[in-house]
Amino acid sequence: MKVTIHIWDLPLRLFHWLLVAAVPAAYITAKIGGPLIDWHGRIGIFILGLLVFRIFWGFVGSTHARFLTFFPTISRLAAYFKGRWQGIGHNPLGALSVFALLAVLIAQVGTGLFANDDIAYAGPLSGLVDKPLSDQLRGWHNTVFDLLAALLVLHVLAIVFYRCVKKHNLVVPMLTGKKQIAKALATSISANPATGFRAIGLILSLIISCIAMWGVSDGIAYLYHPGQSYQQTAQANPGF
Ligand code: HEM
Ligand code: HEM
Repeated sequence: MKVTIHIWDLPLRLFHWLLVAAVPAAYITAKIGGPLIDWHGRIGIFILGLLVFRIFWGFVGSTHARFLTFFPTISRLAAYFKGRWQGIGHNPLGALSVFALLAVLIAQVGTGLFANDDIAYAGPLSGLVDKPLSDQLRGWHNTVFDLLAALLVLHVLAIVFYRCVKKHNLVVPMLTGKKQIAKALATSISANPATGFRAIGLILSLIISCIAMWGVSDGIAYLYHPGQSYQQTAQANPGF
């Protein structure tokens, strides 16, 4: 006997599917280059906003969005490998890949902000570092992308594996927020019911995410040099 329960909140699902659209868009705009490199930067800053949102949501979101709920501790991982883990959110192994994906995405965005392409575009924070360091970060930006691509292949393969071998469809819950689970499991989980999220947490996460995007786009530069963007600061910097 199965019951349907709510598992992924709407903000988390939106975060995921916007990321799924934005990461390939960032890749395509970087590869085509030319006039699209400006768009690469804009999309990258949007991804930064998504990541900042997700980090705050990991503390104030609903039960299964919170990092502490699914943090892959040694005991949780051991229970999972012995087939004794019971839960409905990210399983401990999946949680490892979630943290790895988030960390690599942060590194990708972090290096891009300081990188330059030697032709027409410099990341909005590149004026804060000297040219050799910006060049080095550009190399790391490209290397980190290879790691990100490998993790994404694994991510999709894992989902296909769960669908085809374990007969668990993980994609439908990520779309609808709802999952069908055995009634016995639902009863054991009801001892620790999933809580919703508070509107104030959502508003704060959105505000912090917007401040982060504005801050890297121009905000911090504006505070220190009113009227000047990072791009202009970079141009004015003779070492660059
Ligand atoms: C998840 C987000 C991102 C992804 C997936 C990504 C991916 C890439 C890739 C694959 C390249 C290399 C293109 C090539 O081979 O020619 C590239 C180049 C570049 N990206 Fe990003 N990027 C991201 C975020 C950012 C951000 C936030 C910025 C700055 C705002 C940025 C700035 C740059 C610059 C300046 C280059 C040119 C470097 C060069 O010429 O080698 N990127 N990016
Ligand atoms: C650029 C491509 C993608 C990125 C960057 C990405 C990233 C992520 C991240 C960060 C999470 C963790 C969600 C959280 O924050 O808690 C996640 C989970 C998930 N993703 Fe993706 N994803 C991508 C593509 C896909 C695709 C194409 C699918 C569908 C085939 C998919 C299906 C899922 C599912 C089902 C989960 C939940 C897994 C679970 O139940 O534990 N993802 N993804």
